Amino acid sequence: MIDKQILKDLTVLYAEDEEAIQNGITETLNLFELNVICAKNGEEGLSIFKSSNKKIDLILTDIKMPKLDGLEMIKKIREIDKDIPVIITTAHQETTFLMQSIELNISAYVLKPIDIYKLQDNLIKAIEPKVLKEQLIEKNKKLQIEIQKNEEKQKVMEIQSRFAAMGEMISMIAHQWRQPLASIGTASFNLKYKLLSGKFDLTTKEGREEQTSFFTNKLDEIEFYVQNLTATIDDFRDFYKTDKIFIDTNIEKPLQNSLKIIQKDLQANNIEVILNHKSKKNIRVCENEITHVFINILKNAKDKFLEKNANDAKIEISTQDLDNSVKIDIYDNGGEIEKENIDFIFEPYFSTKKEKNGTGIGLYMSKIIIENNHNGKIYVSNTKGGVCFSIILESV
Ligand SMILES: Nc1ncnc2c1ncn2[C@@H]1O[C@H](COP(=O)(O)OP(=O)(O)OP(=O)(O)O)[C@@H](O)[C@H]1O
Ligand SMILES: [Mg+2]
Repeated sequence: MIDKQILKDLTVLYAEDEEAIQNGITETLNLFELNVICAKNGEEGLSIFKSSNKKIDLILTDIKMPKLDGLEMIKKIREIDKDIPVIITTAHQETTFLMQSIELNISAYVLKPIDIYKLQDNLIKAIEPKVLKEQLIEKNKKLQIEIQKNEEKQKVMEIQSRFAAMGEMISMIAHQWRQPLASIGTASFNLKYKLLSGKFDLTTKEGREEQTSFFTNKLDEIEFYVQNLTATIDDFRDFYKTDKIFIDTNIEKPLQNSLKIIQKDLQANNIEVILNHKSKKNIRVCENEITHVFINILKNAKDKFLEKNANDAKIEISTQDLDNSVKIDIYDNGGEIEKENIDFIFEPYFSTKKEKNGTGIGLYMSKIIIENNHNGKIYVSNTKGGVCFSIILESV
């Protein structure tokens, strides 16, 4: 229920030809904290309404007035504004205007002498739909602004997450490339050394064949490593593509993609990865996004192992089919998440690695990807002295 406060600061156009009545009622209306604009007859009322520039919220009018009567005035006002609430005051109960008042969409009529409580009630009832509508419009506007702000925030986060991921990518490429680059270096050094030190007797057929075979082997080795470097770049490029193409696939594919990208890094830090893949069903996924989620989780485990300087570091990934879905568990044995933190790890910007430039959006983005973009579920639990991230995706 709306209270009397809604009348506060609203503007009423009040048309009444009897000055004494008009003065008395105006005083009362002022007591209700309404602004009142008075007109002596219908003609003046109409002219005030036309020049009011929509500032009038409600019309209160007598019927019998010189020049233009109340109903004629309202008829003309209705041509301009179909909705403005109108209350009629009348000296006696007339039935002739009742039909017309229905046509003119009159909110109420008040008998003279005017009972101010009834007038107040009718004013409130008349204005209520308009105020409610305006409040709704206002709320809607605010909601729209909120939605827009959220969308913008989301975009900024996606960009931040991509930047963070690009930083990751560079460090992972560096890892992946270190070994093949070192091997290329060694092969080319050996070639140069053998060539310059005259190790091959080029005067004999055997010597020439030996040199050809040595060179061919080394060049094959170099070619192999160059292919390896190229493959790494292709893997990363595919992964960082922004297009969202959904395909039906077994979960093994995005899992293997993510391992391809991060496994060298894990191996270099003595982290053992055990894959126990049992799921046979297909799921409909955007591969890049799901790969991203696995990398986020695996990288978090790696971060923790490094932070704790853990021996015997192990990550166990298992997949299984449920009734209408596929479940993936990623467990690491690097210790549990503190109780006071566990409820917040999916929140944006929550990170316990601030001094190491942790952005705290890895898991937030992962949740968006799984729950918003794939209609799945992701959750975490402390178990067996470690942490297990579980993901459930609908099967097709
Ligand atoms: N496997 C895990 N074991 C323990 N704590 C974890 C694990 N995974 C995540 N966390 C906690 O969740 C927090 C949020 O992780 P999230 O990936 O969102 O951000 P971050 O890793 O801190 O930052 P960034 O991903 O940018 O490096 C981490 O700071 C960490 O405290
Ligand atoms: Mg992280």
